[in-house]
Amino acid sequence: MQVIFKELTKSFEETLLESLIKNEKKEEFEKIRKNLVNQASKEEFGDYQCNICLVLSKIYKKNPKEIAISFVQTLKKNKKISNLCEDLEIAGPGFINIKLKNNILIQEIKSNIKCPRAGVPLSHNNNSHAQKKVIVDFSSPNIAKEMHVGHLRSTIIGDSISKIFELRGYIVLRLNHIGDWGTQFGMLITQLKDLYSNNLKGIDTIKISDLVEFYKDSKKRFDNEIEFQNRSREEVVKLQNGDKESIGAWKLLCNQSRKEFNEIYKTLNIKIKERGESFYNPFLKLIIEDLNYKKILVEDQGAKCVFLDGMTNKEGNPLPLIIQKKDGGFNYATTDLAALKYRFNKEPDGDNANRIIYVTDHGQSNHFTGVFQVAKRANWIPEDCEVNHVPFGLVQGIDGKKLKTREGETIKLKDLLSESIKRAKEDLLKRLEDENRYETDEFILNTSKVIGIGAVKYADLSQNRITNYQFSFEKMLSLNGNTAPYLLYTLVRISGINRKNNMTEDTVNSESITYSHDLEWKLIKKLLKFDEVIISIEKDLMPNRLCNYLFELCQTFNRFYDQLPILKGKMNTKISRLKLCSLTEKTLKLSLELLGINTLERM
Ligand code: ARG
Repeated sequence: MQVIFKELTKSFEETLLESLIKNEKKEEFEKIRKNLVNQASKEEFGDYQCNICLVLSKIYKKNPKEIAISFVQTLKKNKKISNLCEDLEIAGPGFINIKLKNNILIQEIKSNIKCPRAGVPLSHNNNSHAQKKVIVDFSSPNIAKEMHVGHLRSTIIGDSISKIFELRGYIVLRLNHIGDWGTQFGMLITQLKDLYSNNLKGIDTIKISDLVEFYKDSKKRFDNEIEFQNRSREEVVKLQNGDKESIGAWKLLCNQSRKEFNEIYKTLNIKIKERGESFYNPFLKLIIEDLNYKKILVEDQGAKCVFLDGMTNKEGNPLPLIIQKKDGGFNYATTDLAALKYRFNKEPDGDNANRIIYVTDHGQSNHFTGVFQVAKRANWIPEDCEVNHVPFGLVQGIDGKKLKTREGETIKLKDLLSESIKRAKEDLLKRLEDENRYETDEFILNTSKVIGIGAVKYADLSQNRITNYQFSFEKMLSLNGNTAPYLLYTLVRISGINRKNNMTEDTVNSESITYSHDLEWKLIKKLLKFDEVIISIEKDLMPNRLCNYLFELCQTFNRFYDQLPILKGKMNTKISRLKLCSLTEKTLKLSLELLGINTLERM
């Protein structure tokens, strides 16, 4: 209903400007126009609300109700408003409740039924702008280190945000900024060389059975053996100078990690382009030069850094962002600055992005605030372009502590996902037994996979990402509540109706629809909110909004389904209700796709 909403807001603005705001108050008008019309805070208030008379009462020092009465009178004279709305109603101290006319809602429903995107408009549709490009930097695990639940969260949230932008018609570049460079490779390669007595000739055939263990062993030696430490430092220099053998060893380590990451991506059905930190190596020096040239860089105790405005440490001193260490090495932040610059740069030596979105845990918030500030001061963020950090909280066990196995070890992602599938399978088998149902092995395998993986993803996405969340298989796999199985089950119910429906497509496609029941209207109004939800996520990057919406949509649909006959009604009622089923189905399927969750016909 975005189009209607915009039209309505525009008419309200015009009226306000004409009637109430005289020239001398124009500045005030600019301030208040942003929130002129809002979504109704409660269903019974109608579709929208205008609360502006309370603000105006302060400006004009007049009773808000009086202002509302005179405003409503003028609004009623506006043709567009009277076409769209039922009588405008003044409530409370001076709120204006706005209810759209039923024929307007029916018109919208009809158009959404035909729309493959269930009413979501394309972002570049109503203006002549070219498609905008959005980069989503997500997942981004580190070579030879564990891909942990934090990376899982980033992967799930980043994938969903990417999909939402794609639906809106943006060009989306999903980037995996993996940690594939840095001084840790010195010790890893040295360890590798030691293990293979310095003979890395047949390097392609070397297999490290457990990279994470390998990392730990190397680290232990690095921390305890001076001689190993020295060789590791030399190895870093060799690697940076492109020594053939060192590069070969580095590639081996990357390949092995990559294989493990890809396995997880395959299970989760994630598409992402790998462009690790090493990619930006050639640009790091330029970052220093540019910052130096722009007089932003300061030398402090041998390190080159930028002191951040408005950010201080515990002692109240300005916080530095270190760009080059005393020993000449570069930092995580240096690479991020080079990456940011490259991504906004015009092609061919850049991505020409309009917006960059970074999805990491909130522990990196300060890092990104610093990086964004430096980039802004260096003028690397073009006008009309935007950067966002999308932080998220920790994943915890039900005890509120760090997620661990029963033995107290960190949980491997692979194990976590297979555990979810295993539990989904147990639930399914129990259900089949209770219902005395027989299903093939293939059905059981596929269904438990869809439910198991979907549940993990949904549990993650449905939380307000900023808070920590407690990981509970039991909750996420439950058929009741705001869970993936509940949504999937609602979809299965609709598939069931479709299987039982024996009308031809032509009949169902007939144009004439009528609604009279309250439960029908409730469903219609919910369905019509879909585009607003999607567009709001584009702004605030909170996918849990979509989950909350879907939960409410399913509840509204299930009430409609439980209390009203669908296939048994009169022809016209039957067609009208089937259309609502089909739009609910489309909205649900599309949304689950946006959340990266596969759907089922039966379960
Ligand atoms: N590799 C980092 C980590 O594991 C995440 C990278 C996020 N992206 C970025 N451009 N810094 O914490």
